[in-house]
Amino acid sequence: MANSLTLDIHYSEGMYFSIFEMEAGDIEEILDIETQSFSSPWTKAMFRQELDLEWSKVFLVKKSVGRLKEIVGYICFWLIIDEVHILNLATHPDCRRNGIATSLINSCLKSSILAGAKDITLEVRKSNLPAISLYRQFGFEVKGIRARYYSDNREDAIIMWLDLNRYRKRLFP
Ligand SMILES: CC(C)(COP(=O)(O)OP(=O)(O)OC[C@H]1O[C@@H](n2cnc3c(N)ncnc32)[C@H](O)[C@@H]1OP(=O)(O)O)[C@@H](O)C(=O)NCCC(=O)NCCS
Repeated sequence: MANSLTLDIHYSEGMYFSIFEMEAGDIEEILDIETQSFSSPWTKAMFRQELDLEWSKVFLVKKSVGRLKEIVGYICFWLIIDEVHILNLATHPDCRRNGIATSLINSCLKSSILAGAKDITLEVRKSNLPAISLYRQFGFEVKGIRARYYSDNREDAIIMWLDLNRYRKRLFP
């Protein structure tokens, strides 16, 4: 997979949103979003471990206002052979509904296509309607249920799946 990737989006208020790969120094800031976003958040050690896994990628969005830079979202995914699995995705609560997760998924999908992936899958809590709606916008479909998958409340996971060829055709009709 590509080592560095930037995708700049300009917002009218003069803010820039750029996508980078996570480095060790980013983890503290990411943890702040993680703990505000999940009932069972990943730990520092879990994010640190992703840096050592050859098949793992963590992309993050940095918001720049003048010289001030702040991480406002991230996605973690694994590419194993030709299948991608999204493991984590979150946007800072103060920055939601600004297209940040959409940009992260687009970057993940494009990077996965370049790396030769064919399919992409993920699990999402049955009650997480915002995330399900987000994934549906990309053409993800429900493929099954993992009963009582989440240990904190025994909630079911919905398995969603996307044929990357379908996404590629949307990009290059
Ligand atoms: C789900 C999440 C990542 C979305 O991030 P975001 O940056 O706000 O998403 P976007 O702005 O790119 O939204 C894109 C689309 O997702 C859907 N969506 C996002 N938030 C939504 C909400 N609160 N209610 C309904 N739909 C929502 C909409 O279809 C939206 O498109 P629209 O704004 O044109 O209507 C964010 O709410 C979050 O971090 N949640 C907590 C962590 C989490 O649940 N992660 C996913 C785990 S599987």
